[in-house]
Amino acid sequence: MKKIYLYGNWKMNLNRGETESFFGDFARELASSQALVAAMGKTLEVAVFPPFTSLAAAGGAIGKMKGATPILGAQNAYFEPKGAFTGEVSLPMLKDAGCTHVILGHSERRAVFGEGDELIAKKLRAALNAGFIPVFCYGETLEEREADKTFDVVSRQLRAALAGLSALETEKIVYAYEPVWAIGTGKSATSAEAQEVCALSKKLVQEQTGRSASLVVLYGGSVKPDNARELLSMDAIDGALVGGASLKADSFLQIYKAYAGI
Ligand code: 13P
Repeated sequence: MKKIYLYGNWKMNLNRGETESFFGDFARELASSQALVAAMGKTLEVAVFPPFTSLAAAGGAIGKMKGATPILGAQNAYFEPKGAFTGEVSLPMLKDAGCTHVILGHSERRAVFGEGDELIAKKLRAALNAGFIPVFCYGETLEEREADKTFDVVSRQLRAALAGLSALETEKIVYAYEPVWAIGTGKSATSAEAQEVCALSKKLVQEQTGRSASLVVLYGGSVKPDNARELLSMDAIDGALVGGASLKADSFLQIYKAYAGI
């Protein structure tokens, strides 16, 4: 039975009070769902990625939870450890805030904030050096898919990110294939489309390392309670990186239960 990863990227949503009420509902329900999942011999790893200003509230709420608690992650980081970088947050600061994971290369960072492959690669290396699990996002735009360039774009983004990393470092990364056209649009990739690119990603990374170690590849883009089960049943897809549907404890837990079959 494979382990499934359910990660919630809150983006620029949920202030401190909203974070506390999210966890109030989430903690109560998660405990009973976890017991059922464990009884069915399944394993789920849950992580939440709140905005920086809600990390302390999320960390405090997680600290009070019992059983297997969600992992805390951040949505971005700068590669320098400290200094005159107005507006940026460093990896040691995120570690101090209780984070073990960090999302890097998200399409919104690439498109809205102009982050390119080179900067993302620097951040990825810095995150690995600081002992973080990077959640590395990549994926094609609609224009690129329609021009039949999906594989080229995904290969370029993966190769650029992994250049110079050791096989072991490469295998620590959680990969998140997020086709840009499926993010926040309500139009998810089909399970076959997602499976195809997730399988290709694994093959590309394995070719780069020359090893056949198992890799974790998530799919992200309009994952909802009603399509989660089918997406997560595909063998190359190890989990979901959920945006909108992770903002309410109820819909996030419905995705959890959809996979668990409860
Ligand atoms: P949505 O689930 O809102 O489409 O967002 C996906 C995403 O960007 C997660 O990182």
